[in-house]
Amino acid sequence: MSDMQWTVLCTTAEVLPGERHVAWLGDTPVLVVNHDGDFYALEDRCSHEDFELSPGPYDADAGTIECVLHGARFDVRTGEPLCPPAYSAVQTFPVMVQDGLIYVSDPR
Ligand code: FES
Repeated sequence: MSDMQWTVLCTTAEVLPGERHVAWLGDTPVLVVNHDGDFYALEDRCSHEDFELSPGPYDADAGTIECVLHGARFDVRTGEPLCPPAYSAVQTFPVMVQDGLIYVSDPR
């Protein structure tokens, strides 16, 4: 492991390909997505308004998730918004997988 601080969020078995899982990093809800076998973690909160992203449809081909409230879409790999009404990125977290566990680091 590097000298970054890593926290276990969940197991890889909880996030099979094309699936997602929400876990807590302190008081922050984190959405973990398995996109094509790679794991990505982003804050489970739309950057448009304070609303969860996790209930929204996930497009496994595009690697995007759509906010159900007003329809903004985000790239789960980068957190970048792909269409209005969101214009700023969702917070993402570095991910490390080891021995079937998914760790994230908090860059904030
Ligand atoms: S709260 Fe997500 S698009 Fe408005």
